Amino acid sequence: MSAIRHFINLSDFEPDVLKGILRNAHTLKKQKFNPPQIFKGLSLAMMFDKRSTRTRMSFEVAMKQLGGHTIVMNTQESQVGGSESIESTGKVMSRFVDGIMARMSDHDMLSELAQHSDIPVINGMTDKSHPCQIMADLLTIEEHLGSIEGKKIAWFGDINNVSNTFVEAAPLFGFELVLACPEDLHGNAPAGANITADAALAAKDADVLVTDTWESMGQESKSLDKFMPYQVNSALMARANDGAIFMHCLPIHEWEEVTEEVAKSSASVIYDEAENRLHAQKAILAWCLEESGVELGQDSFKF
Ligand code: CP
Ligand code: NVA
Repeated sequence: MSAIRHFINLSDFEPDVLKGILRNAHTLKKQKFNPPQIFKGLSLAMMFDKRSTRTRMSFEVAMKQLGGHTIVMNTQESQVGGSESIESTGKVMSRFVDGIMARMSDHDMLSELAQHSDIPVINGMTDKSHPCQIMADLLTIEEHLGSIEGKKIAWFGDINNVSNTFVEAAPLFGFELVLACPEDLHGNAPAGANITADAALAAKDADVLVTDTWESMGQESKSLDKFMPYQVNSALMARANDGAIFMHCLPIHEWEEVTEEVAKSSASVIYDEAENRLHAQKAILAWCLEESGVELGQDSFKF
């Protein structure tokens, strides 16, 4: 019997595995009008303790386009939001479905769910990380700029789940990453992060400028004034390399972390990035299921 393979932290993986998943995401995108029915008869449960548009849509459409089914459960409406333990929840869900995608604020709780589940568990975003987003972002960068290796990615604004996952991805994929953030947040960055308070310096010669909301879900009452020097605007974009792209996982808080001019410019790839959640999700699901011993049929991928 195969070990169950979860998708919780990018740092759990060897680079070749993640690169293989990305290659399959490119292939699945090419097959978007003729999707292989590799998830026929399979079901995915999706649990959310926070709002979502892209994560919910992309996993639901990914499963259905490839022949599978989904069940959505908001944690507040389920027993896990009441008295049932994570252990019992994981064991029970494993008897009904073939995989779980969970958006759980508490990263440790997600890891605990994986530990007690006999089916793959996928991180649909925690307060610590957002690996599915970063796989879609890397797919987008490869589409627009070619190989990610050696590219300079400059992140602006807050230190959050998305920036943390870029920090995890940088050594695995071999890109340069610089975080430009207010000085008082530098202590929140993961160990080893290349961090500066100088936004102009970070933008210089960058290939990708990326930002995210200054107030992630659950932190809505933060003071935002200190972030203004990190707003992605035309002046910052002008310091980047020719052909540099602007990225944002969405939703944008209009027009705080990025100006309308930049978000709607030809350098902005935000909607390709959103669509790529779908193709990345398909490849992540296929890896988790196949490596956990689920037979995906004649169209299965070999990782
Ligand atoms: N980027 C992202 O995860 O979006 P949702 O919160 O809409 O899922
Ligand atoms: N950092 C944001 C990402 C939303 C997709 C948040 O956690 O709210």
